[in-house]
Amino acid sequence: MYICICKGIKESDVRKLGQAGITCPEKLADSLGLNDKQNCCGRCIKNIAKFVDLAEEEAPCPKSPVMR
Ligand code: FES
Repeated sequence: MYICICKGIKESDVRKLGQAGITCPEKLADSLGLNDKQNCCGRCIKNIAKFVDLAEEEAPCPKSPVMR
């Protein structure tokens, strides 16, 4: 399923980045070219948390829960 029309990014693309350990918002945006103001509408960067969620689902070392 496409999650970015401007760049043709699919959920599977984000999941692959997560598998490579790329899960932070800045690195995901850079890797996917979402900071390209000339060729992006800017809609996706507003939903970067969704991208992070997808990537973290596939990350080799998921974040451990915070101990309280
Ligand atoms: S739909 Fe993703 S930048 Fe436009």
